[in-house]
Amino acid sequence: MVVNGHKMESQEVRERSKGVIDFDLFKMGRHLIVKMHTLIKTSQVYDAKNTIFQQFLQESLQSLNALIRREGELSLKIVQENLFINRQRLRYSIEGFTSYKFFLTFLKNRLIGEIIFRKPLDDLTLTAFIYDLIGLKEEEERNADLLSEQLVHRGISWIEVNPVEVFEGEAERMTLSKEGIQKMGKTTYFESIRTIKEVITQMMRTQHADVRKLKLLALRTVYLLMKDESHMLGLTTIKNYDDYTFNHSVNVSIYSMAIGRRLGFSKKLLTDLGIAGFLHDIGKAKIPKEILNKPGKLDEIEWGIIKNHPLQGVEIVLKLKQLGGINPRIVMGIFDHHLKSSLSGYPKLFRKTKVSLFGRIIQIADVYDALSTPRVYRKEAFTPEQALAIMLKDGETEYDPILLKTFIGLVGIYPIGSLVLLNTNEMGIVYKLNPDSQLLNRPQVILVEKDDKGGTSKKSIDLAETDEKGQFKWNIVKPLDPYKYHIDLAKYFM
Ligand SMILES: [Fe+2]
Ligand SMILES: [Fe+2]
Repeated sequence: MVVNGHKMESQEVRERSKGVIDFDLFKMGRHLIVKMHTLIKTSQVYDAKNTIFQQFLQESLQSLNALIRREGELSLKIVQENLFINRQRLRYSIEGFTSYKFFLTFLKNRLIGEIIFRKPLDDLTLTAFIYDLIGLKEEEERNADLLSEQLVHRGISWIEVNPVEVFEGEAERMTLSKEGIQKMGKTTYFESIRTIKEVITQMMRTQHADVRKLKLLALRTVYLLMKDESHMLGLTTIKNYDDYTFNHSVNVSIYSMAIGRRLGFSKKLLTDLGIAGFLHDIGKAKIPKEILNKPGKLDEIEWGIIKNHPLQGVEIVLKLKQLGGINPRIVMGIFDHHLKSSLSGYPKLFRKTKVSLFGRIIQIADVYDALSTPRVYRKEAFTPEQALAIMLKDGETEYDPILLKTFIGLVGIYPIGSLVLLNTNEMGIVYKLNPDSQLLNRPQVILVEKDDKGGTSKKSIDLAETDEKGQFKWNIVKPLDPYKYHIDLAKYFM
């Protein structure tokens, strides 16, 4: 960050001479940030009745309302390390730097990205807003929603709050604790399910959809996979949470991105792959529910309709009026995901071709998730090991052998989420693989036992651990079927 008054000033003068810069806006903006800084600080120490608080409240109000009156409405938005005031980047003065930095960090830590004031405020409204704001917990992903809800509850409809946007490159710089990462993983997972549902419903109705949010969620998932791959993969044990297709699409997206990461994909490519995963079954939105969820065998016509979903998906995506970054690679991935290496899958092709890389990756993620999820026509799902065994049996004729190998390296011999019996007669759930490929049979497991309050335990052991004699302390005897023991695996990853 440049803290060079001269450099900034000359830049301002240049922009001003071009007529781009609104000097008064900046001056008033800087003043406001200094006032807000003091007000937030004071509110953290004093209650609203305190004279000092009241003094700073009045000063902030004056500054804030002067700007709102001048501008009509006022947006304070954070974009990476910058603060924008009504879409113009605010240049801080040297004297104002501490306040600028404080305000930026304060909002970023609470994952608040934008505050919009639509009309001037009175004492009570600003007081309520400030105390609600400082009451937010750091690193809580839902803060923007929580704050908005509180405002609505108070009958304040003219202040809008939006969450911070995570940008490429910025993700790595964000330093969240392990718990923070896992919390973010969980909220990102469920938000992805909700967003896919929204996007698909919107697409079907209007042929318009804003896929920028999906892009943001894919990017966030890339970041989370980098920080804690095991936890993110563990979340895919959540099956049939809502409508199968949406939940499945998120799982396929996570597996696909995890494979892509092992292959060294760039972040841009991973994000595209994630979006393709999210949307791979979008064509199913056109299939009647009675066919999609039919418990019995499908007749030939019904099968024909199901087999048409990759093509329907491409059609939906291509018809979209406003794409917000759908790349041809994504379209190919949707088209290809049931084609198989031998091209024996569907849709039937007129001309021999090679299945795209996205298609080959999504295919593996898709089959694995489908096999390990219970469905209406197959109440009991295969265990993770059974699902892998089935895929290995079909091997090269169906899958790209290198990608299948990569996938096994990712989920392990005992994939994350497997239930295993140990030689101590205890049951464990695999939650983290051993990074040493020679020790894939020695993952870390969470012991299945109830804690004091009857909840699920979080006690974990590392099967690679040895005793004084150098003997392994625990061994896996065999995998078990979690459905037989009525164990809800997803609970252990939540
Ligand atoms: Fe599909
Ligand atoms: Fe699928």
